Amino acid sequence: MHLFLVGAGHVGLVTAVGLARLDHRVTVADIDEARIDRLRAGRAPMFEPGLDEGLAAAADRLAFTTDLRPPADTPFSFVAVGTPFGPDGPLTLDHVEAVVGGLLDVTGPEHTIVVRSTLPMSGPAALIQLRNIRGGAASITTNPEFMREGSALRDFEKPGRIVSGWLEERDRGAAERVLELYRGIDAPTLVADAPSVALIKLASNVFLAMKIGYANELARLADAFGATASVVADGLGLDDRIGRSFLDAGPGFGGSCLPEQAVALAAIADGADVQAPLIQAVAVANGAHQKAIVARLASLLRPLDPPDLFGKRLALFGLAFKANTDDVRESPALAIAAELRAAGAEVVGTDPRASAKAQAADALLEVAASPAAAASAADGVLVVTEWQDYASLDWRAIAGAMRGDLVYDTRNIVDGAAVSAAGLRLERLGRP
Ligand code: UDX
Repeated sequence: MHLFLVGAGHVGLVTAVGLARLDHRVTVADIDEARIDRLRAGRAPMFEPGLDEGLAAAADRLAFTTDLRPPADTPFSFVAVGTPFGPDGPLTLDHVEAVVGGLLDVTGPEHTIVVRSTLPMSGPAALIQLRNIRGGAASITTNPEFMREGSALRDFEKPGRIVSGWLEERDRGAAERVLELYRGIDAPTLVADAPSVALIKLASNVFLAMKIGYANELARLADAFGATASVVADGLGLDDRIGRSFLDAGPGFGGSCLPEQAVALAAIADGADVQAPLIQAVAVANGAHQKAIVARLASLLRPLDPPDLFGKRLALFGLAFKANTDDVRESPALAIAAELRAAGAEVVGTDPRASAKAQAADALLEVAASPAAAASAADGVLVVTEWQDYASLDWRAIAGAMRGDLVYDTRNIVDGAAVSAAGLRLERLGRP
């Protein structure tokens, strides 16, 4: 089937490649001409493992355009534009409303608009109102994605579930037909009203954020009592009511979804006068954890007067919010860099892929081309991102370049024996 998709961002492109692999033809539209030109030349505008290859392999089923009107033979238009943090708060609908409004103007009752963008809880009602005002006849459904950056194409092909939402009773049949587009994918499906679907999406991400926040607090408790956080997580995970995934302690959760949606769901609850202290705590806990990491670092480097780090130089290994992406949105590394600077430290960062984006996001950040270069004259190294490269570094060269001897690994990724053999002092989050 020929499908139309507006929004050539991360979600849109992975969705387009995924649908093309299911033998659909997909025309992808975006207002950003440079981005469309780049895609026509076969290059993705962001790093995602397998995306360039996926675009090349499906080239005969993909077309790119800056024309936001769907081709005449497309029964479905996917909308995958951002719902960014705006002046009024998180998950703003302006882009979605502009695109859906435009589609309503040029489509009829046989057309279905599938909103894949993450909606706030007020989103479904706003879209009903938009359709009433515009007088559009197209069906509108929602179809949130649950893909992780770094493994997004795999997550598209092997999703935990495919969820399709209907705005009003008249959209219910269309929501069921959307599921047929995914024929070939083996996953449980759920068709439900759009507010429930919007809450499924937000609640999933905030639950994952809560799990990570919990694991991070357990890791600090483990540190206080000589327990090992990963063993505790393994033990918790053996209970299948809890599960082992998303219990790895680290520098805090980052990325484009978890931090923003934790804030969004708390604000949504607040705005609706719903007491939700548990949800409110998720974002707060992440900030507190990052402050605790800086305080720990300060107490290791300057035991007599933490949290003062004045004059200390710290090298951050990893700037991306997690491995296998060049994305630095809400990256723990940047949050920690800001905390370190506030405590008086100088910060230099390095990353195999995300240096340029990190520097664009944080003008104060000094960036070095390699771990050894970043370590030059550093008092300490803080490992922030779990890049596989950091599992086998040349610690002798790093030690030779450093001024001090501290390595603090928040991801439990470095080779402890190699760090110690290089004469460095290794500290690990959640590991005695
Ligand atoms: C997330 C959701 O997983 C995905 O379903 C949704 O569609 C988009 O948001 P993503 O932001 O790509 O995906 O990253 P994810 O792999 O979920 O990791 C989020 C953050 O949590 C990262 O900073 C990661 O390092 C951290 N994390 C994850 C941990 O600290 N510990 C863990 O055990 C898991």
